[in-house]
Amino acid sequence: MEKSDPIGIFDSGVGGLTVCKSLRDVMPSEHLIYFGDTARFPYGTRSRETILRYSREIAAYLVSRNVKMIVIACNTSSAVALEILRDELDVPVVGVIGAGARAACRTQHNGCVGVIGTRATVNSRSYEKAILEINPNLKVFQQHATIFVSLTEEGWIDDEITRLAAKKYIGKMYSENVRTLILGCTHFPLLKKAILDVFPDMVLVDSGYEIALEAKQMLKEKNLENSGAAGRIELYASDITDTLQMLKNMFFGENGASIAKLTISGGTS
Ligand code: DGL
Repeated sequence: MEKSDPIGIFDSGVGGLTVCKSLRDVMPSEHLIYFGDTARFPYGTRSRETILRYSREIAAYLVSRNVKMIVIACNTSSAVALEILRDELDVPVVGVIGAGARAACRTQHNGCVGVIGTRATVNSRSYEKAILEINPNLKVFQQHATIFVSLTEEGWIDDEITRLAAKKYIGKMYSENVRTLILGCTHFPLLKKAILDVFPDMVLVDSGYEIALEAKQMLKEKNLENSGAAGRIELYASDITDTLQMLKNMFFGENGASIAKLTISGGTS
C-alpha cells in the first residue's frame, strides 16, 4: 500500500457525503473515492442479509480501486457488515459506530447516552454493545428515527415538522436524563439545529466527524498518511436522479464535484 492510494468510502446513498466532507476537512490531501448506493437506498429498513450482500459488493469494488482504507460511512452497514468485512478483507475497514460510541463515552457526564438511527441500526444494538464494552456502567437509550431520513432529503432541516419529530423521537429519553445523543445515521448531522432548538442542552455526537479523526490517526500510525496538494475527490452513485445534485450540495456543500453513475457488479437490486 502507498501513501498516495485513495481512501474508499461507501454509504446507502448521498447521506454519507456528510462523512466524506468530514474526511475532506480533516485530511484535505487524501484522494477520496465515494460510492453511494442510491439505486438501492434506503438500507435501514432492509434485512441483515441484504445489507451484508450490498456492503460486500461495494467493498469489492473499492478494493479493486486499490484503496488503502475503507470507511463505512453508513451506520446501517457499519452495524451489520463491519466485523465481517474486516475478517474478509486485507485492507483496513473502519465504521462510524465504534468512533461514535467512543466519543459519546468521553462526552457523557451523567451516566446516560442516547442513540438515534435507522431501525436496522437500532435493532442491531451495535451502538449499545460498543458503548457497554467501553463502560458497562452506562445506561444506553435507543430510538429509531426513520422519518428524520425523509425529512432531511426533503430539505426540511430547519422546519416545524422536523422539530415536532425531534420532540416525539427524543422526548422520552430526554425525560430519562439523556443529555448526550449520538447521531447514528448519516443524515442526522444536518438536523443538529432542529434538535438543539427543541433540546438546547443536549450534546450531539457526530459519528461521521469522529470517524474522520480516527481514520486520520490510523493512517498516521500505519505511515500511510498523504500530505501535500489537495487530494482528488471522486463521487459515484448507483442511480442518478434529478434531485441528486441538490442533495449532493446539501450534504457535501457546493464545491463543484459532481456525481457520476457507476453500476457495480451485482449492484442492481
Ligand atoms: N446511510 C444510512 C445510515 O446511516 C441512511 C439511512 C438508510 O439507508 O436507511 O443508516
